[in-house]
Amino acid sequence: MTAALQTTELRKQYPGAQRKGRGDALGGVDLTVAPGEIVGLLGPNGAGKSTLVKIVCGLVRPSGGTALIAGQEAGTRAAAARLGYLAELFRYPPWLTAEALLTTHQRLARSGGGSGERAELLDLVGLGDAAAVKVGSMSKGMQQRLGLAQSLIGRPALVLLDEPTSALDPVGRALVRDVLGELSARGQSVLLSSHLLAEVEQVADRVAIIARGQLIAEGSPRDLGGAGGVEFELASGTSLHPTLTRDDIPDEIERLVARGERVYGVRELRGTLEQAYLRAVREHGGEAP
Ligand SMILES: Nc1ncnc2c1ncn2[C@@H]1O[C@H](COP(=O)(O)OP(=O)(O)O)[C@@H](O)[C@H]1O
Ligand SMILES: [Mg+2]
Repeated sequence: MTAALQTTELRKQYPGAQRKGRGDALGGVDLTVAPGEIVGLLGPNGAGKSTLVKIVCGLVRPSGGTALIAGQEAGTRAAAARLGYLAELFRYPPWLTAEALLTTHQRLARSGGGSGERAELLDLVGLGDAAAVKVGSMSKGMQQRLGLAQSLIGRPALVLLDEPTSALDPVGRALVRDVLGELSARGQSVLLSSHLLAEVEQVADRVAIIARGQLIAEGSPRDLGGAGGVEFELASGTSLHPTLTRDDIPDEIERLVARGERVYGVRELRGTLEQAYLRAVREHGGEAP
């Protein structure tokens, strides 16, 4: 199956970067997003996340390498038709209703979905009753959900979301999580940039961490988190063995029982995505100068 996104040796050097002693904003990034996959894009400020997203959208021209969206070269009309995008700092005209905003964007996206698509998308993001509400009288969270609906017009193969939950309360965040799950179930893919690591950990199938224009770590949140020890629940309370792994559990239980302990529970712990992120970024020199 064709990947929703495939970047190969993707490079960007902004004009004047060398003179200012900066390296490439992107130094040859290979990243693949499979159909239906939700991928978190993480990295410190200046890492190159927005540059990557903008190249994929066709807003920035790469200096080298390629970015294909559902097989179509970034920047072409064919690629744009397969892409949805919600910018981090978007602002819609306050006088437009939700319905009118989506109508405008359907025109821009050349979507023939009509009122059926608008109603479906508003329902999906929990704004089914807000079709006639003006952007200007919406809360920040409602606007962000409207933005998400807008990015889904035309059923794009790849949805690019820059910090989509930053203005949302916990209920709004749970809703976005559900929406992302729904997209994934339909075979649509999501590339999600966020600093909310606990959240990315919950929604992303895979995480790509970039720093100084390089991909420095990649994998499922669970794999990246790594081993975190094993916790036993005994009559005396819980006891954590930080160096044990899953394979050690049967022997350790035997030892405990032989010692006269009663074992009520056992839990394999994993490191968090936050720990993995900090480890990777520190190892690779952190923020760009
Ligand atoms: N339009 C631009 N012109 C020159 N340099 C830029 C421009 N946009 C970004 N950069 C530089 O490229 C690097 C990566 O930036 P960016 O992609 O915005 O990172 P992030 O989104 O991860 O914070 C930084 O060093 C930044 O200063
Ligand atoms: Mg950015």
